[in-house]
Amino acid sequence: MSAPARIPAAVVNGAGYGGIELLRLLRRHPVFELVEVTARSDAGRPVEQVFPQFSGLDLTFSARVERAEVVFSALPDDAAVETLPALVAQGRRVLDLSAGFRLHDAALYPTWYRYEHPAPALLEEAVYGLAEWARERLPDARLVACAGCYPTATLLALGPALARDLIAPDVIVDAKSGVSGAGRSLKLNTLYSEANEDISAYSVRGHRHQPEIVQALAETPGAGRPAPRVTFIPHLAPMTRGILATCYGSPREGVTEDDILAAYHEAYDGEPFVRLTSEPPHTKWSYGSNRCFVYPVIEPQSGRFIVISALDNLVKGAAGQAIQCANVMYGLPETLGLPVEGVYP
Ligand SMILES: NC(=O)c1ccc[n+]([C@@H]2O[C@H](COP(=O)([O-])OP(=O)(O)OC[C@H]3O[C@@H](n4cnc5c(N)ncnc54)[C@H](OP(=O)(O)O)[C@@H]3O)[C@@H](O)[C@H]2O)c1
Repeated sequence: MSAPARIPAAVVNGAGYGGIELLRLLRRHPVFELVEVTARSDAGRPVEQVFPQFSGLDLTFSARVERAEVVFSALPDDAAVETLPALVAQGRRVLDLSAGFRLHDAALYPTWYRYEHPAPALLEEAVYGLAEWARERLPDARLVACAGCYPTATLLALGPALARDLIAPDVIVDAKSGVSGAGRSLKLNTLYSEANEDISAYSVRGHRHQPEIVQALAETPGAGRPAPRVTFIPHLAPMTRGILATCYGSPREGVTEDDILAAYHEAYDGEPFVRLTSEPPHTKWSYGSNRCFVYPVIEPQSGRFIVISALDNLVKGAAGQAIQCANVMYGLPETLGLPVEGVYP
């Protein structure tokens, strides 16, 4: 059998954490051929000079995309909404890691992102990129708004229970993220001496991922019900990578743990990147891999439904998610070029 033709690919903003992870994964991808990498302040410098871990990668950071057919963008969302519409108009297929095209309602952007959306028509068109839920729409997509890191952990955790109406549509999500979730730009709260040996909640009165989670849960395949009430509280944890989401809900009358487990097995037994576990998952299990681990139980004392998920924010929560979606877009095996086992310890 002949090898599939290579598809020229670009990474936009290859100098941030999401972009660097895209470089790591795309460099070994057998079909997407990395032909361009852009950066702002590093434009003109060889990639291997800026990041010696890519020694031997014969690419120089450029200022713009010129040759690629498929574009993986890791721009901040405000830069993404200004930059990506032109790339889509040029006929390139774009997978965006940012939140710039995730919300369908343009009116939410001034509230949550503090800008008027410059391309509202693309909000209607963009496919929300959680590959597990979007397989039917991805093959025709021109623009994929890849699901956020916290939303991916939350949606994979709660989706089966809400979609099958096993729990009431009122949930609490207590989530912890490693520091790389905040990106590579300098910020006081991610300095080593601030974040190390510390843990705290943030954005308690409203985090940007809350409306995204609500929107996506209302669209869970099979849901067809009003959007659930979601309390989402993120925490900054003293680790480099990883998200752990502990989610709480109330089972519908008569629903047992066996019913819950049957629903989760039905949803995930055929999924290459979602694994049900028989003990609470650790973020370390997912380090560097595209897997999300999910552990659903009914806690006997309170009768409450609890589901805990763990993933790597830069892989299943960002770069790996985008490549998984791109594999589906191009009719490739969904797991192509993606790490299943991570690095441990
Ligand atoms: N980190 C995560 O875990 C994660 C997960 C899911 C999704 N995301 C999303 O993915 C996108 C990238 O996140 P990230 O964490 O990789 O970002 P990041 O590490 O914070 O990227 C920062 C780099 O972006 C460059 N940059 C900043 N503003 C820019 C602009 N207007 N135009 C071009 N380059 C600009 C800066 O480089 P210079 O100043 O050197 O030019 C900076 O070093 C974001 O939209 C983020 O929300 C991130």
